[in-house]
Amino acid sequence: MPDEIEEIQRALEKAAEGIKTPQDLQRFKEEFLSRKKGKITSLFKRIGSLPPGERSSFGRRVNQLRELAENLYKKAEKSLKEEGWKEKLRKIIPDPTLPGFHKKIPPLHPISEISHRIEEIFLRMGYDIEDGPEVETEYYNFDALNIPPHHPARQEQDTFFLGKSLILRTHTSPVQIRAMRRRKPPIRIIVPGRVYRRDEADPTHTPMFYQIEGLVVERGISFAHLKGTLETFLKALFGEETRVRFRPSYFPFTEPSAEVDISCPVCGGTDPHCSVCGGSGWIEILGSGMVHPQVLKAGGIDPEEYSGFAFGLGVDRISMLWRGISDIRNHYWNRLDFLEQMK
Ligand code: DAH
Repeated sequence: MPDEIEEIQRALEKAAEGIKTPQDLQRFKEEFLSRKKGKITSLFKRIGSLPPGERSSFGRRVNQLRELAENLYKKAEKSLKEEGWKEKLRKIIPDPTLPGFHKKIPPLHPISEISHRIEEIFLRMGYDIEDGPEVETEYYNFDALNIPPHHPARQEQDTFFLGKSLILRTHTSPVQIRAMRRRKPPIRIIVPGRVYRRDEADPTHTPMFYQIEGLVVERGISFAHLKGTLETFLKALFGEETRVRFRPSYFPFTEPSAEVDISCPVCGGTDPHCSVCGGSGWIEILGSGMVHPQVLKAGGIDPEEYSGFAFGLGVDRISMLWRGISDIRNHYWNRLDFLEQMK
């Protein structure tokens, strides 16, 4: 009979060594310590059938065996818990000895890059950056900017109408009015943002594109300020050698108005077959003018006391020039292979 105790002890020790999972641990408990069918319990049950002289020494040995089983069980349970933690830690703490992997971060989108460059130049000149809604009212987008109801720009083929006199803004100019109402002169702002027009997408058109608006309102602002500012800006952006030309033009919200050209940044006016300027040597870059008195009034500013100038430029066009991009739609196709060329 004592042999059986030794046998169970050996089995017990072997089983304890083999505990690797919570299932092993459970099996160990059932096999040896279970009150119903556990091997040690069945030894206890045997005590009653032994000759009285052997009972106490047998009982002592079985008690020791049970203690051993319980200790082995606790030990295995503890080390399983520790293993579990180690495993969890291994998952959350990266192994610094593993080889690293390279995450490709493409350069900035050209629209963002150009916008940032332009913003930086104006920030250096003391301008603030303003913002306005892309869903606009017809009033801010047109009427307040001196664009009457019959004006062709308001027609359905150009504008996305959303109903109830709401539209998608067709230019960033409505923020001129919002800014004048929000701020007091002196006002010096630029407004970068998206604008929308019902144009079929082709190499030079997309129904959504980016503009940057500029507005200055102070006492005594003249056309000379407009010229000086835009020349400084365009030379800072395209290089000191750039020549700037003002041509008379018309916009309902400025009087007088001017379109501004720069000397071709690709051929400098020396190549009669230049694909960028078409051999003319000049590229139209923005619209500008002195803020119309009606527009100042709509912004709540007295045109007798204040004057101002404004300008608007297309970011996509500048990006295309800057990067030699021949199709504007490249900006919106979301292709990594395009972005990766923008280094
Ligand atoms: N809003 C005009 C457009 O989208 C651009 C423009 C021209 C803005 C002249 C101006 C400006 O502020 O003075 O075509």
